Amino acid sequence: MKFGIATRNENSWSSTQIREALAKRRISSECFCLSRLVARVGCAPYFEAANVDVQKELDALLIRPIGRGSVDELVFRMDVLYRLQRLGLYVINSPEAIEHCVDKYDVLAILEENGVPVPRTATTENVNEAMNAFCELGGDVIVKPLFGSRGVGATRVRDKDVASTVFRAITFHHGVVYLQEFVNHGHSDIRAFVIGNRVIAAMRRMADCWKTNYSQGAHPAPIELDKMIEGLSIKSAELVGCKIAGVDILESPKGPVVVEVNSQPGWRGLQSVSRVNVADEIVDFVLSELKK
Ligand SMILES: Nc1ncnc2c1ncn2[C@@H]1O[C@H](COP(=O)(O)OP(=O)(O)O)[C@@H](O)[C@H]1O
Ligand SMILES: [Mg+2]
Repeated sequence: MKFGIATRNENSWSSTQIREALAKRRISSECFCLSRLVARVGCAPYFEAANVDVQKELDALLIRPIGRGSVDELVFRMDVLYRLQRLGLYVINSPEAIEHCVDKYDVLAILEENGVPVPRTATTENVNEAMNAFCELGGDVIVKPLFGSRGVGATRVRDKDVASTVFRAITFHHGVVYLQEFVNHGHSDIRAFVIGNRVIAAMRRMADCWKTNYSQGAHPAPIELDKMIEGLSIKSAELVGCKIAGVDILESPKGPVVVEVNSQPGWRGLQSVSRVNVADEIVDFVLSELKK
């Protein structure tokens, strides 16, 4: 048996953890970057990366961060995942799930349609409409890149002139403005790690400012989730088709709200405060899926 790990950085901590979990089970693995892959039509091998015939040699493909890129690069990488899945390879998370989750608007729209509480959010390509939404959302918003992660590029804006400058800069570069009411969460949030239909581990992330990403320096602490938040996490992952998910939940004064579902979550911070081995859980879950 052989697993593929598609990743931006094959020496990353999480990919190494997965490789070690596979090695413990005597499963071989092949790590490669989707940007190095050759896809062929009309001649074989259909997918080749690092001299591996991805379709023929692998039993499963785990998608770690698929990477940033231009529209062409990202559309092509998604095309590859869709075709691999059509040709019968087990891809986790599925391309459908990844597509929903990389887009912060899409994920929140699906959650709201299914009764999951989310913060009030507006998305637009138009500067004037963005200014109207800024006022509508109380003049205190978080502006986020539509396709961002790890807190990079997310900014709190509380001033009209700053808002106008930020929105103009985004639209000048043909970006889409995504703005969200500021949720007063007291500098901490919850990350629930969902595998299948279970939360296998969770943490509270504590920061000294509103941005609580582990990669931005927040400190993780172990947490027992109450049934409501646990249920919300599992439901959110399921709604967007994620079998592996990092669900981010803010505790607003009005109750919990889900801000995003990560389809390629890291777990270094979480592992430092968890008893379960996350990589083991992921590998065992994939093995159980392959048996079905
Ligand atoms: N509406 C909000 N109000 C207050 N803080 C927020 C809001 N949205 C996000 N944050 C903070 O910013 C962090 C990053 O936002 P998130 O939506 O999870 O994007 P990313 O993909 O960059 O992690 C969150 O973990 C949270 O600490
Ligand atoms: Mg997040």
